[in-house]
Amino acid sequence: MAVTDILNKKNLTRQDIIALLRAEGDDLKLLFDRARQIREQNFGRRVYYRAIIEFSNICRKDCLYCGIRRSNKHLVRYDLDDELILRAARFAFDNGIYSLVLQSGERTDRAFAQRIAHLVRKIKQMSGGKIGITLSVGEQDFQVYKYWYEAGAHRYLLRIEVSDPRLYPLYHPWDDLHKYDRRLECLYYLKDIGYQVGTGVMIGLPLQTLGNLADDLLFFKRFDIDMLGMGPYIEHNHTPLYSYRHLLIPLRKRLILTMKMNAILRILMPDINIAATTALQAIDQMGREKALDIACNVIMPNITPDHRQDYLLYEGKPCTDEGGDACVQCLNKRLEIYRLKPIMQDWGDSPHYFKRTSTPVR
Ligand code: 5AD
Ligand code: FES
Repeated sequence: MAVTDILNKKNLTRQDIIALLRAEGDDLKLLFDRARQIREQNFGRRVYYRAIIEFSNICRKDCLYCGIRRSNKHLVRYDLDDELILRAARFAFDNGIYSLVLQSGERTDRAFAQRIAHLVRKIKQMSGGKIGITLSVGEQDFQVYKYWYEAGAHRYLLRIEVSDPRLYPLYHPWDDLHKYDRRLECLYYLKDIGYQVGTGVMIGLPLQTLGNLADDLLFFKRFDIDMLGMGPYIEHNHTPLYSYRHLLIPLRKRLILTMKMNAILRILMPDINIAATTALQAIDQMGREKALDIACNVIMPNITPDHRQDYLLYEGKPCTDEGGDACVQCLNKRLEIYRLKPIMQDWGDSPHYFKRTSTPVR
């Protein structure tokens, strides 16, 4: 079937999605134009900012692709003091960014749970309730997620990474810490509690097929997700998956594939928040802006103070040597080039969330 015909269909099948993932030349342009049109119908040229603080790279897990995995000894482990984190949050607030993401490696001890709740409360207090907080600190028990929600966090990001349970063990150790079912269960917990839930996958992993990627997109739709972040997989030489780099498609192709994935997702789920991920920028200087121009509507400027060079999930991560301020100013300029409009004070909640639930969000 021709791409125009596929784009005119109401419901896309797995085969349709695979055909779109294969699109090139004029067909690719048609796909991107349709995604842009839907993005504009739902969000105009608005781009929501979330200042992200990667406050610790200490992680109990050992994912085979990830640069901050437990077994990697080639990096300095850090855990920012609460005071530094709060200062960074204040920096965001003073610069008019009212939406914050706290991200770190996974830890599940009691002290960690209490600390996050404390930070959330402090940030809420400091901003008179004006800052909206998103957490991204891995798999946790239901009670812990609930505790943080009650403390004031209202959005949570937990990528499924690979949506097919049969493939999950290819990229993760085979032990009780890395179970697909547990990860999925966590996503259900988050939804049940009332969070706006974000997930995502990596694109271009070794052995991943277009069929797998189509399944990922159908998974997001079936799970009825509110927010999404997908990025190209980028090999890291201090990880086990690095030995399989000869199986990878070139970085440029991974970038285009990510653009296609975002575009198809926009068509499948018009009103969700889709983030232009930092990994895009690691491949192309303007990678994030190009993704925002087509399908994405969220960007996450990094305002982590210190230690940025130690949160290397993958190699060539951009902006690891700049101060937070440099990043925000530089972003505003970059968006202007694409006639995109930064939205910093609005929390920019996912419209989809309000349609799927009547639970009020603070
Ligand atoms: N390449 C790209 N993305 C990666 N992540 C972890 N390692 C890599 C890598 N090598 C992503 C994971 C994780 C997010 C914080 O970073 O999807 O959820
Ligand atoms: Fe930290 Fe995967 S290595 S969660």
